[in-house]
Amino acid sequence: MSHKIQTLSGYIHEYQKSILQPEEFWSRIAESFHWQKRWDKVLEWDFEGPDVKWFLNGKLNITENILERHLFIMGDKPAIIWEPNDPKEKNIILTYRELYEKVCEFSNAMKAQGIKKGDRVIIYMPMVPEAAIAMLACARVGAVHSVVFAGFSASSLADRINDCEAKMVLTSDGNFRGAKTIDVKGVVDEALEKTRSVEKVIVLQRTKSEVSMKDGRDIWWHDAIKGQPKENKAEVMDAEDMLFILYTSGSTGKPKGVVHTIGGYMIYSYYTFVNVFQYSQGDVYWCTADVGWITGHSYIVYGPLLAGATTLMFEGVPTHPHPGRFWEIVDKYKVNQFYTAPTAIRALQAHGLEPVEPYSLDSLKVIGSVGEPINEEAWHWYHDHIGKGKCPLVDTWWQTETGGIMISALAGITPNKPAHASFPLPGIDPVIVDAEGNELVGNNVEGNLCIKSPWPGILRTTYGDHERCRQTYFSTYKGMYFTGDGAKRDHDGYLRILGRVDDVINVSGHRMGTAEVENAINEHPKVVESAVVGYPHEVKGQGIYAYVICDMEGRTEQNLINEIRETVTKIIGPIAKPDKIQIVPGLPKTRSGKIMRRILRKVASGDANNLGDTSTLLNPEVVEEIIKGAVK
Ligand code: WTA
Repeated sequence: MSHKIQTLSGYIHEYQKSILQPEEFWSRIAESFHWQKRWDKVLEWDFEGPDVKWFLNGKLNITENILERHLFIMGDKPAIIWEPNDPKEKNIILTYRELYEKVCEFSNAMKAQGIKKGDRVIIYMPMVPEAAIAMLACARVGAVHSVVFAGFSASSLADRINDCEAKMVLTSDGNFRGAKTIDVKGVVDEALEKTRSVEKVIVLQRTKSEVSMKDGRDIWWHDAIKGQPKENKAEVMDAEDMLFILYTSGSTGKPKGVVHTIGGYMIYSYYTFVNVFQYSQGDVYWCTADVGWITGHSYIVYGPLLAGATTLMFEGVPTHPHPGRFWEIVDKYKVNQFYTAPTAIRALQAHGLEPVEPYSLDSLKVIGSVGEPINEEAWHWYHDHIGKGKCPLVDTWWQTETGGIMISALAGITPNKPAHASFPLPGIDPVIVDAEGNELVGNNVEGNLCIKSPWPGILRTTYGDHERCRQTYFSTYKGMYFTGDGAKRDHDGYLRILGRVDDVINVSGHRMGTAEVENAINEHPKVVESAVVGYPHEVKGQGIYAYVICDMEGRTEQNLINEIRETVTKIIGPIAKPDKIQIVPGLPKTRSGKIMRRILRKVASGDANNLGDTSTLLNPEVVEEIIKGAVK
């Protein structure tokens, strides 16, 4: 099956068709998949509810479309290539047939441990093939997976388990990352003290670290699969049944569980994968994300495997044991498509060209970027030194909520410009609006980015709180999905993403709510109040700057700063640790008591010269003090 657009005129044609006749457009793609019962209707939607349904009453199992569908012709083809953290350890290559057997075997094990259709299962695992097997095994039995990035703390993990009332946790003893061995099972044990829904924990042995196993609750992965048949029948699911929940940060409160359903997500992750990366059979494709994020879901596991691709999974980090590790892997497996985040590019760029030079990188055909705006300098370095000036660089804009790539060049097919995501994919109708929601038409306009009509991969709800979904995405601008990003259409019509316009910051491609970090800081007993903002950071894109009012009795500033960092690590995880903490006597507030974040952002970015009028503040005098004490 090929739904690959091959020419620019082909793109224009498909795009027009997809906007004018979306139902015909998407049903034509869906038809090439295996459905146990065909859908009655392609689409029903309103953005008020919101209520979006694709492929109504269609019955299927996504794993049949990944496994059974590829067995006959491609059973012996590598599905997953796994490269371990330590280059001296043996790699693993799983063919489609082996993947089929492993998924069946593990899904049988899950069933034997009491998992049924509809149950929620948390996956808190390192980047090993079993993480992908776990996801697919859930989908096979109709359980809803929720992968939690293994760098999150026990308390974040507990919040997620409680929010979705998970019945099972799939985890490992530990995790190898760079030079470190990280405890994983201990974090799960701590989280489970604060939760009640989990009945069973299946533990993969990875690091052979010593862990405690609770009788009746914990079972080793290798014991759980013992004697389980390597085949089974996939559960029959409805197209609109939940496939997974993925927690992500917003501008307020705790992370919310973004819900994706089976049919639409399947079609969308497949279609975008094939077209953006221009994948051809036989290619080796590598996305460096972690399966704990949406990029890992859609472009390590689901999209590539639905397309029958060979997807590479890497356990380690870009700089271990040396900063040429990525390029060594590209040469070792002759990777054809390589997809990473700007923060990784900037970090490697800082090591200069020496680590790149020993490698030919000849196999590369397409390079990609995701997760945050890519600055022009990083774009050129990536394009010139990794893509050798010949590989198209696809700058892919999308979100956890969109399920798949929304705005991006199709590699080598549609035109491209540095630092511009460029053009929408077929089926995507983006608009730029002003503060009042008026659509800004024509070129050379800047405003907030919205999407006018549904695509198959759009989120359906936020788990357990549909109103929050409506409020967050569908209430700011009537009748449209609001992305939270600002965007510009330049004089040539290329779209450029300008970054978040809400209180979400993007640190090393990880999305974080400033309120979430503030709440964690405020847990420290000496903290009176805090305000967190992002500031430009050379490698991370944005860094976290925290202004904190503290009760200083019995503490030095440095003590407090260290303790606050530890508190945040404990409550959210190391990825949320503030880069800079300034202890301040007060926070600039309006007369109605609102923190003036605009001022704090300017000071944090070292731009305290024109703060505008501060005389209307309740406490203008603190501004001077804040500027004086700013952390450089
Ligand atoms: C940002 C990651 C500019 C954006 C797939 C979005 C980007 C948020 C790009 C979603 C890009 C992602 N250019 N900004 N190519 N890709 N973003 O949910 O602000 O982790 O709203 O999904 O990342 O982050 P999320």
